Amino acid sequence: MYGLVNKAIEGLVVENYGEEAWERIKKEAEVDVDLFVSNESYDDSLTYNLVGAACKILDAPAETVLESFGKYWITRVATESYGHMMDAGGSNLTEFMQNLPNFHTRVSMIFPNLRPPRFEVTDIEQKSIHLHYHSHRPGLQSFVVGLMKGLGERFGDDVTVSLIETRSSDPIHEIFKVSW
Ligand code: HEM
Repeated sequence: MYGLVNKAIEGLVVENYGEEAWERIKKEAEVDVDLFVSNESYDDSLTYNLVGAACKILDAPAETVLESFGKYWITRVATESYGHMMDAGGSNLTEFMQNLPNFHTRVSMIFPNLRPPRFEVTDIEQKSIHLHYHSHRPGLQSFVVGLMKGLGERFGDDVTVSLIETRSSDPIHEIFKVSW
């Protein structure tokens, strides 16, 4: 994944637990990188190792770490560094969710080697939606939950997310019901 993802993990850890915790996490993950470069590609395993090490050092389950990261991604990283793209995504939650399937197309203009997830939305109601998440990357469901909650925070809506279909029938596809 692009370096900005690893940089964001660093930001989340340093802001909440301090520089020393981050150094311990990098050591535990056997990551020997001083500075992540946002637009450079790193192996996915590096990101997974950082998350795994964060769980160990912070003594927190992966679900908690990934959900916090999802929220942080929306409310801090995307808002502060890519505000114009977030603004273009929609001015309320319904609009933003409906535009989500195309969101990373614009991101790919800045990050040409992006391997983004694929989103689809169905069952659109006034205050709920089914979000279909397709990704070859395993284990990131709680990250998606955090992203949805972060979007709820962005638009001042109280969001609940439930996983209504897991990967058992299709190995790269999950369906969440997002309500607010
Ligand atoms: C301007 C804001 C955003 C930027 C710059 C961005 C960029 C990225 C980047 C660089 C990756 C890593 C993939 C790679 O490097 O190949 C990624 C992954 C991901 N993004 Fe975004 N993204 C943004 C907003 C969003 C939003 C709004 C959502 C959903 C609400 C989202 C959902 C995801 C998910 C779930 C992944 C994990 C990869 C996977 O599931 O395979 N992103 N994004």
